Amino acid sequence: MKLAITGASGKTGFRVAEEAISAGYEVRLIVRSQSDIPESIQGCERYVLSDTNGTTLDYALQGCESLVIATGARPSIDLTGPAKVDYLNIKKQIESCKRQKLNRVVLVSSLCAGKLIHPLNLFGLILIWKRLGERSLQKSGLDWTVIRPGGLNENETNLKNQNILFSGDKTQEEGSIPRRLVAKACIEALKTKDSIEKIIEITSSEENPKTNMSKAIKAFSI
Ligand SMILES: NC(=O)c1ccc[n+]([C@@H]2O[C@H](COP(=O)([O-])OP(=O)(O)OC[C@H]3O[C@@H](n4cnc5c(N)ncnc54)[C@H](OP(=O)(O)O)[C@@H]3O)[C@@H](O)[C@H]2O)c1
Repeated sequence: MKLAITGASGKTGFRVAEEAISAGYEVRLIVRSQSDIPESIQGCERYVLSDTNGTTLDYALQGCESLVIATGARPSIDLTGPAKVDYLNIKKQIESCKRQKLNRVVLVSSLCAGKLIHPLNLFGLILIWKRLGERSLQKSGLDWTVIRPGGLNENETNLKNQNILFSGDKTQEEGSIPRRLVAKACIEALKTKDSIEKIIEITSSEENPKTNMSKAIKAFSI
C-alpha cells in the first residue's frame, strides 16, 4: 500500500500525508528542491524532483500503487502558473502514472472547475485549466477520482462538528471546507471503490447531516 503524494509540501498535501500515515499507508512524498516539508511528515520517504521532466517523475512514482495529486499553482503575478501547474503538470503526472502502471489516482481540483465567468479566473483562467487537468485524468483509463473542494481554510478547531456535503459534478458553487477534511476525503476516496470514475464536490458545515462518501455517492448517483 505505497501511496505517492505530489504537492506534499502544500497546505492540503501535507495533511493528506498525515492522514495517509494514520490510515496505515506507506507514504512517499514527491516534492521540489525548494519545497518546505512540515516537521510532522519529515520522517516519510521523500523524492525530490530535480526538474519536472517525465523521467524524473517516472522514477519517483516507481513502486507506488496509488497517487494523490495535491499540486496547484501558488498565487503569483505569473499568470501562466495555472496553465503550467494545473493542466500541463497534471497531464505529465498522469502520463507518468500510466508508464509506471500506477492505476489509482485521486486529484484535488476545485469547485467550479470549468466555469469561465468566475472571479478566480483573474488568476490565469485557473478554473479552465483545472478542468482540462481533470479531463486528462478522466480520459486516462486509470482508476480516477476528482475531489472538488470549496474555498479552503486551515481551521482545525471543532472539526468533529463539521460535516461534509458530498455531491456530484456541477452541484455546488459556493461554500468552504477545512483542508484537513479535504485530506480525509482523499484517503476516504482511496478506500471507497464507488468513488472510482466520480467527480465529488465537497464543502462542509455544522448544518449538514452526518454521512460518509460511500453513502453519499450511492445517493447522488441514482
Ligand atoms: N485555496 C483555495 O481556496 C482552493 C479552493 C479549492 C481548490 N484549491 C486547490 O486545492 C489544491 C491544494 O491547495 P493548497 O492551497 O492546499 O495548496 P498549496 O499550499 O498552494 O500547495 C501547492 C503545492 O503544489 C506544489 N507546486 C506548485 N507548483 C508546482 C510545480 N510547478 N511543480 C510541482 N509542484 C508544484 C507546491 O510545491 P512547493 O511547496 O514546492 O511550492 C505545493 O506543494 C490546489 O490545487 C488548489 O488550487 C484551492
